[in-house]
Amino acid sequence: MEQQKVTIQDVIKAKAEGRKLVMVTAYDYPFGLMADEAGVDIVLVGDSLGMVVMGLEGTVEVTMEHMIHHIKAVIRGCRGPLVVGDMPFMSYNTSIRDAIINAGRLLKEGGCDVVKLEGGVDFAPTIHAVVKAGIPVQGHIGLTPQTASALGGFKMQGRDAAAAKKIIDDAKAIEDAGVFSIILEAVPAPLGKLVADSVHVPVIGIGAGPDVDGQVLVTHDMIGLFDKFVPKFVKQYTRVRPIIMDAIKAYGKEVREGAFPGPENSFKMSGEALSQLKQMIGK
Ligand code: KIV
Repeated sequence: MEQQKVTIQDVIKAKAEGRKLVMVTAYDYPFGLMADEAGVDIVLVGDSLGMVVMGLEGTVEVTMEHMIHHIKAVIRGCRGPLVVGDMPFMSYNTSIRDAIINAGRLLKEGGCDVVKLEGGVDFAPTIHAVVKAGIPVQGHIGLTPQTASALGGFKMQGRDAAAAKKIIDDAKAIEDAGVFSIILEAVPAPLGKLVADSVHVPVIGIGAGPDVDGQVLVTHDMIGLFDKFVPKFVKQYTRVRPIIMDAIKAYGKEVREGAFPGPENSFKMSGEALSQLKQMIGK
């Protein structure tokens, strides 16, 4: 049976009903299909694709064109979950006008349902304007990977009381600006709970402990497909990389030994057609 389309109202209601939200990333059609079949609530086409798909050091180089290309692929497989398109670095930081135009492009050209952008108090006016333009926004605070270098690297945030208070202020400011949910990344677990208790919209954690309203993980981390760098908050539910490596190596060995393709992987030709052909080419 086809999963009913998850709406932003369903996401907001989940918090009131005490139902934990399940969110994963996807960057292409097969993973969109699998996330859909697995019945997750939300699929994020994250700019983490810069790292786990494109092999970049961070997310800064990811462009609008990259995002649109990947969102288009994911939505073809993803019918049930709410699909979030990540706004890349500098697509919303330059002006409110740019933010509205680029958020609109992710929906119109990419086909996602909503957008996500990083930033707290300073980005509340931008979020307000995008929401006013009719585009639902998911916020992202705590560790914000696009500005990781300004934050001192990919590190836990909210370490001392003042820094933790700033994150609570960020959550409240972007809630007031109109986000329908908030991603909270890499903060101490007790702060995760305090943030979730400070706002009415769902707080979806990634490295924010268990006492938030849902969890998101980068799928390639969670399935052990990308293991160049595995953050502390990632749980690897499986490790597909060695399985894929074994398959590619076995294929290579069989090709080199002439064992692949076998008769079961080869197309047949009638004896008559073959002898006619041989006559035609003088063999
Ligand atoms: O780009 C991404 O995958 C993200 C997650 C880390 C939430 O923003």
